[in-house]
Amino acid sequence: MYWDDFPEWVKQHISVILESLRERYPETYNHCRRVGKGTRLMARAIGLSENEQVIMEYAGLLHDIGKFQIPKGILHKPGKLSEEEYSMMKSHSEASVDMIEELGDLEFFKPVLDGILHHHERIDGQGYPYGLEKEAIPFESRLILIVDTYDAMTSDRAYRKGLPDEVAYKEIQKFAGSQFDEHLAKAFLESHKFTKKENQRFELEWEKSEKIKGKKAA
Ligand SMILES: [Fe+2]
Repeated sequence: MYWDDFPEWVKQHISVILESLRERYPETYNHCRRVGKGTRLMARAIGLSENEQVIMEYAGLLHDIGKFQIPKGILHKPGKLSEEEYSMMKSHSEASVDMIEELGDLEFFKPVLDGILHHHERIDGQGYPYGLEKEAIPFESRLILIVDTYDAMTSDRAYRKGLPDEVAYKEIQKFAGSQFDEHLAKAFLESHKFTKKENQRFELEWEKSEKIKGKKAA
């Protein structure tokens, strides 16, 4: 299913949410955009069907929209979060799902919502919100977590420069089997040099179209 096939209310609902996120937290919005594309490319690299690729793209695109509800002082805090702040931060997966709950009535969005809800679960059961382990974690979530972590490590933030790819790859390798799905981590590390080029092309096209629309790209 593609953007053109969605009912009008779905398009509007998603657009309004993404635009609001962009206004409040442009960094998070851009992270979501990149993770959406990156997750789709990964899905293609491991041989998922066209429809599954689109599902993965939406799950990636919307995975962090719940951060809209986190106060700025917590989301952008450079130092360590207090216990209370951390538990508020952890609520964002559920908040993301709450914001698009009504989409869950459409067959297409069921795996999207599920993928979003569990995108911080870890293979060893130490993640959140439910501490699910291994295959109990939806496939979509296991895939998002890798692309999400790579993007979070390598992109520039207001208070620090992004890390080089090699450092991010080492981290993903190191935590394969504990934080990340071992097979998906391997597939990511093998295919990323190819998918990265395509993702960079998407980014350039997006920046160009934003310029035409008169918007600032980042
Ligand atoms: Fe997240």
